[in-house]
Amino acid sequence: MTKLILITGVSKGLGYAMTEGFIKQGHTVIGCARSSEAIEKLRQKFSAPNDFTIVDVANEPQVEKWANHVLGKYEPPDIVINNAAITNYPAPLWQVPSNEFSQLIDINIKGVVNIIRHFVPAMVKKQRGIIVNFSSGWGRSTSPEVAPYCASKWAIEGLTRSLAQELPALYGSNSSQSRDYSYRYAFYLLWRISC
Ligand SMILES: NC(=O)c1ccc[n+]([C@@H]2O[C@H](COP(=O)([O-])OP(=O)(O)OC[C@H]3O[C@@H](n4cnc5c(N)ncnc54)[C@H](OP(=O)(O)O)[C@@H]3O)[C@@H](O)[C@H]2O)c1
Repeated sequence: MTKLILITGVSKGLGYAMTEGFIKQGHTVIGCARSSEAIEKLRQKFSAPNDFTIVDVANEPQVEKWANHVLGKYEPPDIVINNAAITNYPAPLWQVPSNEFSQLIDINIKGVVNIIRHFVPAMVKKQRGIIVNFSSGWGRSTSPEVAPYCASKWAIEGLTRSLAQELPALYGSNSSQSRDYSYRYAFYLLWRISC
């Protein structure tokens, strides 16, 4: 059965690869990224009902506007993939400029929460959906010169596990499940609102 899949950060890397792969399999992808050039190329390559929008996930009004557009046009997504993230320029923590640290936290943590805040209520109402938050090997380990990135991915691990506990408790769904898929480089934290 084809799925409606919402992915953040589709302009390159894993987000682009997932977009291409899911569409090849017949699924519909709703995607966002900041690069207007890349979004235009995606629109040309993958036609409707696939839908690509310029959105900065760190900008809550932009996310809210995107959610209103998506939820007005489509059913709530079957799967939300919080993929968009940045890494810091490698440096000891005390040398990381304040604005660089803030931008990384705004995208990697607050961006994920902005998406959850504006899309998950519709999924909860429908009692159906899967949410995937991309973590990292550095969400469970540390290395020098990547402290901001490590901090953001450890935060993703924590907020994902907490949210997974909230959903069944708040919405009385006995079928909520939380799973944790480990791969060599990235950890994908995932839970189902309902089977
Ligand atoms: N690649 C790895 O080896 C690896 C390992 C562990 C975990 N991960 C995780 O996997 C995910 C994808 O990694 P990747 O290597 O594919 O990254 P990437 O190649 O750098 O791509 C990141 C994507 O996120 C988008 N993005 C960044 N900031 C954004 C924002 N504020 N709003 C919307 N989109 C934004 C970028 O597009 P724009 O710049 O156009 O906005 C781009 O499409 C990340 O969560 C990363 O932490 C990757």
